[in-house]
Amino acid sequence: AAIMKGKFDTFMQKEIYEQPESVVNTMRGRVNFDENKITLGGLRAYLPIIRRSRRIVFIACGTSYHSCLATRAIFEELTEIPVSVELASDFLDRKTPIFRDDCCVFLSQSGETADTILALRYCMERGALCVGVVNTVGSTISRETHCGVHINAGPEVGVASTKAYTSQYIALMMIALQLSEDRISFTERRNQIINALHALPGQIKKVLELDAVLQELAEAIHKYTSLLIMGRGYQHATCLEGALKIKEISYMHSEGILAGELKHGPLALIDENMPVIIIMTQDSLYTPRSNLRSPQITARKARPVVLCNEGDQAIPENATTIRVPKTVDALQGLLNIIPLQLLSYHLAVKNGCDVDFPRNLAKSVTVE
Ligand code: AGP
Repeated sequence: AAIMKGKFDTFMQKEIYEQPESVVNTMRGRVNFDENKITLGGLRAYLPIIRRSRRIVFIACGTSYHSCLATRAIFEELTEIPVSVELASDFLDRKTPIFRDDCCVFLSQSGETADTILALRYCMERGALCVGVVNTVGSTISRETHCGVHINAGPEVGVASTKAYTSQYIALMMIALQLSEDRISFTERRNQIINALHALPGQIKKVLELDAVLQELAEAIHKYTSLLIMGRGYQHATCLEGALKIKEISYMHSEGILAGELKHGPLALIDENMPVIIIMTQDSLYTPRSNLRSPQITARKARPVVLCNEGDQAIPENATTIRVPKTVDALQGLLNIIPLQLLSYHLAVKNGCDVDFPRNLAKSVTVE
């Protein structure tokens, strides 16, 4: 059947709004909320091999790479296996050493990205276990990997990836949870995350209600030449992914910055003409005072927009805020990316860009 935009102006907008359902589709038949159990049929026979691997290497491009960065910390925490995250092109350029006891995980919406396919064949030749996390059933990566998980987000048409990102995020989370199910010491942490997964679709709906707030913000900043997005820990991936969305569809320059690196260079960019978004949701790295009062930002007359949790009293009243529901630290990035998707969308519309088909880009990059 032809895929229709329905009541939406663009496929990207439709796909952003599908996320309360697409994340449910990713979990359907796999997460048992009554028993706090995960069952990923496509991995079953391979779980013992994955658990014995010496390291896990995530390999992907673009947005798919960001979903790996976003879940790396929880993956390491739950599996206690070292995880590295590789951009497929750079992984190949470096002729990265890969061994038989490595588990290589290939993330791709399309399953047809040339760099990722070449990296897969490279790892296959070296005898590694190759796992696919792919949206498109029957695609090259889904066929050529030993085993894997389909993210079941449904077809994604907009060049800017949105619902595939949130579904990849959940798929990686489910894999980490499944790998750790034999560890009694992780029971509490696992249950905390599975409960949070249950609440997630409703929370995504709430975030989507922020659309008018983001439209207003886009109106205020769309004439600036650049936008910085800062955060730390789990949120670094959110910053990078938000900046990529903004660049690719609104053609505005944007940069995601690890907050801890600010004073090592990027701080020089900050003045009253540089809009800044600071992601400061309440996880273990939450420090509203040091970040907001720090002369680093405020003394330079920058008026940061703060992406924070609902009900957070510590954020100064005069700050512009984008307030999202609170979830467990490991899933907060999934909620936090949605306002940035909406912002990129409104920036693109205000700049008169073709949201679904940005210049110079293709939905899947099938050339090296
Ligand atoms: C995302 O908005 C981009 N269009 C792009 O970075 C994309 O994520 C990348 O090309 C990887 O594609 P894949 O997931 O289909 O492999």
